[in-house]
Amino acid sequence: MKRIVIFASGNGSNAQRIADYFQDNKNVSIELIISNKSDAYVLERAKNLQIESWVIDRPTLYQSETVVERLKKMEIDLIVLAGFLWLIPANLIEAYPRKIINIHPALLPKYGGKGMYGMHVHEAVVANAEKMTGITIHYVNSCYDEGDIFFQTTCAVEPNDSPQNVAQKVHLLEYEWFPKIIENLLFQ
Ligand code: GAR
Repeated sequence: MKRIVIFASGNGSNAQRIADYFQDNKNVSIELIISNKSDAYVLERAKNLQIESWVIDRPTLYQSETVVERLKKMEIDLIVLAGFLWLIPANLIEAYPRKIINIHPALLPKYGGKGMYGMHVHEAVVANAEKMTGITIHYVNSCYDEGDIFFQTTCAVEPNDSPQNVAQKVHLLEYEWFPKIIENLLFQ
């Protein structure tokens, strides 16, 4: 049995998609959803999915070993960041080398770094009249969006696309690919 924890800060549509994808897979379990926001919609999703959730604050994540200790006790195999907006601290990265992955809604190294998340990314892509965008899945290190990339795929940006259109296209790519890539990683 492979055990996953998902970190998410907001809506959680990727978390939902991952949970749905593995629902009938007896070899994979989404054990826990962690959020840094007590009003994040992902917590509602966790409740509906009957997945345990945990809201953490800054001191818990950055000034204690609580998260590492809990994940170790749960024998977590993979940490998945799905729209999680806080930096992952060094103690967690050291405890899970190459076992923490993130999805980014653009083609890194473009449109990454602090403040580049969600709609901000798509607005920048449209403002720069990019012809192409996409998704990046990468290992997490202690800098925003800088860990080794192991998957990217693209979609076209049309001249009249709004940031909302682009967001929709990118989300579809995320829903299609993120669960499959997670599965590959778990069983490679
Ligand atoms: C996703 O598009 C994800 O790629 C992005 O946040 C969105 C979360 O949506 N992540 C980042 O921008 C990280 N820098 P969701 O909550 O509906 O899954």
